[in-house]
Amino acid sequence: RTIYLKDYKVPDYLIDHTELTFDLDPQATLVKSRLKVRRNPAADPGDSGLPALWLDGVDLELLSVSINGKLLPAQRYQEMTGGLLLAVETPEFELEVQNRIAPESNTSLEGLYLSNGMYCTQCEAEGFRKITFYPDRPDVMSIFTTTIVAPASYPVLLSNGNKIDSGTTQDGRLRVTWEDPFAKPAYLFALVAGDLQYVEDTFTTSSGREVKLQLFTEARNIRKCEHAMVSLKHAMRWDEEVYGREYDLDIFMIVAVDHFNMGAMENKGLNIFNSACVLASPETATDAAFQRIESIVAHEYFHNWSGNRVTCRDWFQLSLKEGFTVFRDAEFSADMNSRAVKRIEDVTVLRTAQFAEDGGPMSHPVRPDSYMEISNFYTLTVYEKGAEVVRMIHTILGPEAFRRGSDLYFERHDGCAVTCEDFVVAMEDANDADLKQFRRWYSQAGTPVLDVEDRYDEDKGEYTLKIRQHTPDTPGQKDKLPLCIPVTTALLGADGKELPLNQAGATETTLLLTEACQEFVFGNIKERPLPSLLRGFSAPVKLRYDYRDHQLQFLMRHDSDEFNRWDAGQRLALNALAALQVQFRAGEALRTPDALIAGYASVLGNGALDPALVAKMLALPSAQELAEQEGEIHAAAIIAAREFVRNAIADALKPEFLARYRQLDQRTPYSAEAADIARRSLKNTCLAYLCATMDDDALDLARSQLARGENMTDSASALGALVEFGPVEDAEQHLESFYQQWQQDTQVVETWFGLQSTSASYGTLERVQQLLGHSAFELTNPNKVRAVIGGFAMRNFKQFHKEDGSGYEFLSDQVIALDKLNPQIAARLVTPLTRWKKYAASDAGLIKSALQRIAECGSLSRDLFEVVSKSLSE
Ligand code: ARG
Ligand code: ZN
Repeated sequence: RTIYLKDYKVPDYLIDHTELTFDLDPQATLVKSRLKVRRNPAADPGDSGLPALWLDGVDLELLSVSINGKLLPAQRYQEMTGGLLLAVETPEFELEVQNRIAPESNTSLEGLYLSNGMYCTQCEAEGFRKITFYPDRPDVMSIFTTTIVAPASYPVLLSNGNKIDSGTTQDGRLRVTWEDPFAKPAYLFALVAGDLQYVEDTFTTSSGREVKLQLFTEARNIRKCEHAMVSLKHAMRWDEEVYGREYDLDIFMIVAVDHFNMGAMENKGLNIFNSACVLASPETATDAAFQRIESIVAHEYFHNWSGNRVTCRDWFQLSLKEGFTVFRDAEFSADMNSRAVKRIEDVTVLRTAQFAEDGGPMSHPVRPDSYMEISNFYTLTVYEKGAEVVRMIHTILGPEAFRRGSDLYFERHDGCAVTCEDFVVAMEDANDADLKQFRRWYSQAGTPVLDVEDRYDEDKGEYTLKIRQHTPDTPGQKDKLPLCIPVTTALLGADGKELPLNQAGATETTLLLTEACQEFVFGNIKERPLPSLLRGFSAPVKLRYDYRDHQLQFLMRHDSDEFNRWDAGQRLALNALAALQVQFRAGEALRTPDALIAGYASVLGNGALDPALVAKMLALPSAQELAEQEGEIHAAAIIAAREFVRNAIADALKPEFLARYRQLDQRTPYSAEAADIARRSLKNTCLAYLCATMDDDALDLARSQLARGENMTDSASALGALVEFGPVEDAEQHLESFYQQWQQDTQVVETWFGLQSTSASYGTLERVQQLLGHSAFELTNPNKVRAVIGGFAMRNFKQFHKEDGSGYEFLSDQVIALDKLNPQIAARLVTPLTRWKKYAASDAGLIKSALQRIAECGSLSRDLFEVVSKSLSE
């Protein structure tokens, strides 16, 4: 069944108060709910009296229903698939429902479940209905009071808001009551019960209120909390300074959980995190993990305003909170670290995976207009492209106007469940702006393509940019209208400096493209310039301009926009890699990419650039990103071209890589400061290139870096290089001793899994199958599944795309098995198979038949069914 945005109706009933009591037991948790129900004055009155009340409920054992204290006879209600329908006699009443659930058997990790013996919840989007019968939709907002009763072996009992009561029951169990004074939808409900330790800190808000901050984990992880706590305090301060948003409860809690489908969840006052996204120590976590933690802690914290205080009317509006909050966390990370590097990382994800989503069978607009299963729409389009849409509003209006808009948005809609339209209207109203055409970004799917041509009229001193835009058709959407696209631009003179564009001497401007084809004329231009287009990636589009290699080398040296400087290098690499793919497929000898090597040499020798930026500039586009570039994907050609280029660079620049490695290899104590992370990232980039030569002296550098084991970033990089480029027996031995050293640490074991499953040389299907049998592997733990199966299928292009199709068969087997346990994870993991149409015929056939095998295996979950059926019907 498909749900449509156009069918939205306000709820028939409101729930003013929700009182929950949980009597925890692994197989028989008793849930009592007492709801103050009231007819919604805004609902259509209809003509046949009071409509029946619908309560969502899934996998629940109903025990009893009472109204105003009286047990309801069975003819007054009807249990149906997906919920309970109740005849209503008065416009206001108190409803009491009792039901039973089995958290221990819940492997979907949605609703109430157990993770390493700890009870926890995940309710977004529609998990609350797996806890009790309820109008499980975000526009029903209620004050929650929650009582938890549990055996004394669960000393920590948490829920949203403030603790208002605690005690012991007659039979010696613990009882705690929490009250959340802010009305919220059920998806923000949370409960945690376990034998947990915590670290505590405080934060004083700008208005002087002291907030208690607590981070809960299992005892073994208690030493890994500091970074998240520091990040939280930075985020709280940043939201006050940049958005004027203060925290609103007296306590803010975070809990780390090992079994979690996503990164984290912003439950009011009680955020629940995937432990990999919150716990870190220098010995066990990589720099990438440190930075990810900082951004996710901030993301969930920022949701307190963009998501919780102002929430979504319905799930089609998901990007209202997610796009905005991703934009907020990206700006926070940019302020805390290198802005250019953060932008490069985000754009890489967008270009690699979001563009692929836009061009595939699941393509949908930032605000989808239909879905079968909402869990399938927690996508890169809703999150990352949604954030780009908010960023474009920020670019078009400017920072002050944007802030006026966000102030109005928060003030106007505080305590309400609203739409993406409401967000745009607030931006307009606060600034007397017109974003009418801009709104199309929310409703049109697909990645727009910009074709840019230029001409220079020497006599008139006029330079003209002609830009054409076009958005390709996507499933169910044809003939797209022109979008409003900000294209930030500068013009570079022969000396590499920016030319003045007006009398005031401005050298950068944002062109606002609104037509299908438009010309922009610059006067007073004294020489033929080289354009620096779409600076900072000012819009999520594919920009085509016929840059020559020497022009790209020039931009790599001179463009003052660091993002475009990097992008010039990427374009140079893409040109080289495209040419090599053609040579490979024609059976020709591959020709050394001299222009690219020269470009890389100049970057490597530039001591004035941020080392983190240099590391990014020296990184070749991934195979996945290359695949996104091609009309028809030839996996073998992509791999051959990429390996050839990598080896050519490594061989040509070995002395330079070695010199830079030595210079950066300082033995200073670990710090997660941006400058230190930058140093390690360039150092390890050099190490990887050095090892790609497979020379023993280079491999020795990795061996000694691994042996020193100063921090996980350096150890994992060294081990990764040895696994990829060292002799197999050697790799085998290093992997074994690494495992011996770290087997007690779940996170390091996940890193260890990932190093193997993603290795082009080591991570063959046979190895990956062995890993599935490893004692540390758990099919019920999404992090382990992502590390082994996800690593292989999504980040090991070479082995996954073996031409016999064995990788595809393997993935479909795993997806079928997983669907029985955890539909959300199964539906995500199947993604690589959904792109079958883009592959050259023989591969496409094999991928498609792997998909068909899934489709034919009968009772699929709604999650997996939606993805597989849409992919096959494309
Ligand atoms: N709201 C969470 C976040 O982005 C993610 C929730 C994911 N839920 C889901 N069913 N996929 O911070
Ligand atoms: Zn979010």
